[in-house]
Amino acid sequence: MRLCINIDHIATLRQARKEIEPDPVLAAGICELAGVDGIVCHLREDRRHINDRDLRLLKETVKTHLDLEMAATDEMVSIASVIKPDLVTLVPEKREEVTTEGGLDIEAAKVRIEGAIDELKKAGIKVSVFIEPLPVNVDSALEVGSDIIEIHTGKYANQKEPKDKIIELEKIRQTALLARELGLGVNAGHGLNYINIAPIANIEDIDEVSIGHAILARAVFVGLDRAVKEMLEIIRRIRR
Ligand code: PXP
Repeated sequence: MRLCINIDHIATLRQARKEIEPDPVLAAGICELAGVDGIVCHLREDRRHINDRDLRLLKETVKTHLDLEMAATDEMVSIASVIKPDLVTLVPEKREEVTTEGGLDIEAAKVRIEGAIDELKKAGIKVSVFIEPLPVNVDSALEVGSDIIEIHTGKYANQKEPKDKIIELEKIRQTALLARELGLGVNAGHGLNYINIAPIANIEDIDEVSIGHAILARAVFVGLDRAVKEMLEIIRRIRR
């Protein structure tokens, strides 16, 4: 199972002072040297953390795999078509939210999402859609032409009771299995940390996880290199 790291929070820290440090581009290089399989960043409409300069430089310097999270808007589709990241993950975006709050409601915005995916694919970019773990969302992802799904693991991560965690985990497992059977790639992410990653890594149908906050929070205390390696160690103990 591949580990991709979301470096948005490095840019959040930089923007707290509107300074040039810490630089998310440098962070991406350190994460790659520590062994991650890819770098993820979210270019938001309000540019609250990652900005256009970061994206441009990440495209030039990332040697593993660059996944651009973005809303399915005309502006973002144009930017992605020029930059050409390896993957675009379409996410819902609300100006007021602290972080992405849930999966895409594909059915509610089908024409727009289908149009965005079509444009991105014409530019030679693979596309993933961030969805809640429900079979109906896998069907929708397939219908709009997505190559990959990213399963939202936030609800699983937020459950306090073990029995509720198991229920959410089972939804993730079933969704991953269905997507795999239908020929889609399967990513997962949101709210994953050093403790709750193990049951997710045990789901064979998940190809890749995208983790940001937990690794960067740990990096504040132990350094980025060690924080990344510790997560890789847990994943590799379970999955090769
Ligand atoms: N996947 C998606 C689609 C996201 O929006 C985010 C958060 O930016 C993540 C994964 C990573 O979530 P976290 O920071 O909680 O690990």
